[in-house]
Amino acid sequence: MILKMPSSVSEKRIFPSKLLSLLIAFSILLLISSSLSLLHFDEDSSVPKSVLQFIVVNNSSIHSKPNLKTGDPQTIPLKRPVFEIEKRVVEEQEQENYTRDKSCDQENKDLLRVYMYDLPAEFHFGLLGWKGDGNRTWPDLNDRDKLPSYPGGLNLQHSIEYWLTLDLLASNNPNVTRGCSAIRVKNSSEADVVFVPFFSSLSYNRYSKPEGKQKISLDRILQEKLVEFLKNRREWKRKGGGDHLVVAHHPNSMLFARRKLGSAMFVLADFGRYPTEVANVEKDVIAPYRHMVRAIAADDSPPFEERPTLVYFQGAIYRKDGGEIRQELYYLLKDEKDAHFAFGSVQSNGVRQAGKGMSSSKFCLNIAGDTPSSNRLFDAIATHCVPVVISDEIELPFEDILDYSEFCVFVKSSDAVKKGYLVNLLRSIERDQWTKMWERLKEISGHFEYNYPSKSGDAVDMIWQTVYRKRSPTMLSVHRKNRYSRLQVL
Ligand SMILES: *[C@@H]1O[C@H](CO)[C@@H](O)[C@H](O)[C@H]1NC(C)=O
Ligand SMILES: *[C@@H]1O[C@H](CO)[C@@H](O)[C@H](O)[C@H]1NC(C)=O
Ligand SMILES: *[C@@H]1O[C@H](CO)[C@@H](O)[C@H](O)[C@H]1NC(C)=O
Ligand SMILES: *[C@@H]1O[C@H](CO)[C@@H](O)[C@H](O)[C@H]1NC(C)=O
Ligand SMILES: *[C@@H]1O[C@H](CO)[C@@H](O)[C@H](O)[C@H]1NC(C)=O
Ligand SMILES: *[C@@H]1O[C@H](CO)[C@@H](O)[C@H](O)[C@H]1NC(C)=O
Repeated sequence: MILKMPSSVSEKRIFPSKLLSLLIAFSILLLISSSLSLLHFDEDSSVPKSVLQFIVVNNSSIHSKPNLKTGDPQTIPLKRPVFEIEKRVVEEQEQENYTRDKSCDQENKDLLRVYMYDLPAEFHFGLLGWKGDGNRTWPDLNDRDKLPSYPGGLNLQHSIEYWLTLDLLASNNPNVTRGCSAIRVKNSSEADVVFVPFFSSLSYNRYSKPEGKQKISLDRILQEKLVEFLKNRREWKRKGGGDHLVVAHHPNSMLFARRKLGSAMFVLADFGRYPTEVANVEKDVIAPYRHMVRAIAADDSPPFEERPTLVYFQGAIYRKDGGEIRQELYYLLKDEKDAHFAFGSVQSNGVRQAGKGMSSSKFCLNIAGDTPSSNRLFDAIATHCVPVVISDEIELPFEDILDYSEFCVFVKSSDAVKKGYLVNLLRSIERDQWTKMWERLKEISGHFEYNYPSKSGDAVDMIWQTVYRKRSPTMLSVHRKNRYSRLQVL
């Protein structure tokens, strides 16, 4: 069943209004229409099911598997991924129905037109060990065996650069059916945005330490080259870089270039390590982490009664900057018999175990760590464990169309550390209230799945739509206000 989001068109046409009441009326309308559309969305149980993205090229599917090859001498050895890759085959009938959207047509006015620089492979797939054959800049999407895979493990949580780049490449290949919110155009004058295909998170993860006798890391060299390249381009000069899209999802990626490219639109995990003049919520796009635990299908999601643990937390207790609250909460909650604290990263504890723990919990804590965001929130969404967000500075993906207060509980840090506050609050949320949030989680979890090929309404598609909407005023500020006010309704 094709994922249809009929409301997306109307959502794109949000007009500015100074009257709050009008905005609220509109938001109600929007909510109704989006829930209607998500009913359709929900019918595709395969979306939440997907653990790793599957790749479909011309009616055949392969799996993007974590790359275990570390043969390249320049490569910093990777931690081996410990999670399993679920093999999935796309139902043939599903494929038949998964026909190309009419909206993929160049004529469609709501399509985001993206020009992508043909940067040398060393900036993107070359970092994955892809050599290309001869003079190719991009992998051949028809030759699926040669499609490079992204490294697994913790690398994957920041793999956004990979999905977006592949999706743009696929938009020019009629053999690949995909979500249709963006299309790559070859003439930069016809583009809405200019995409910079630098795999900055991977570059940070693998190449940020100088090798051998080198003084500077490859990551830094690439960033300097990139700045040099961009500043000399006609496309950059045209709008001072303002229409450029730069993916820097790992909080430490683009460390050297971020100020110099600060006029561009960034795709980020949060703004924690950015000065406001370089990155901010008006200009930039917050993208979800790719979740680590296995997503559960809506049909298989344990309801209230089958989640014996009240509250689950997975993570390090002792963190630098801003993470002290974790320690305080731990001492507040450790004696509650239905609170579960698992220490260490999802990785070290076993992804499967974390997934199990979360899907047998009613609430999952997301406490600020050394950055305001973490993939924990997205693990919670993937397991339909109602997220409890205790992170005052957090930025949330797609918040202009998603009202997180419908499926998350927000608690101010100052309240969370009051004795008894959190537990009393969570215990006061009864079955019906919890179930409402859980139902909503099941509806929206597909928005947080990265797929290749992309699907209508998945994370890749939603990012393009967000970029598109950045061109007009949004519901973002209204939804942000709802974060804490919703609790009074409960
Ligand atoms: C395909 O789409 C048609 C029309 O929307 C529908 O009747 C049919 O059930 C769908 N088939 C599958 C397998 O989803
Ligand atoms: C891909 O699909 C097209 C149209 O269905 C077909 O003509 C072509 O032979 C297919 N290619 C492969 C490699 O299967
Ligand atoms: C698609 O692939 C399936 C199995 O891989 C095959 O049975 C079917 O005939 C293919 N369909 C087309 C249109 O090629
Ligand atoms: C790559 O391009 C160069 C210059 O255009 C050409 O001389 C060379 O033969 C090409 N190599 C391959 C393998 O196509
Ligand atoms: C689609 O697949 C066919 C058969 O493999 C191939 O000949 C054609 O070049 C492909 N189209 C594109 C745009 O790659
Ligand atoms: C690119 O688009 C612009 C504006 O539509 C047009 O004037 C120009 O001729 C195009 N360039 C090419 C090479 O097609």
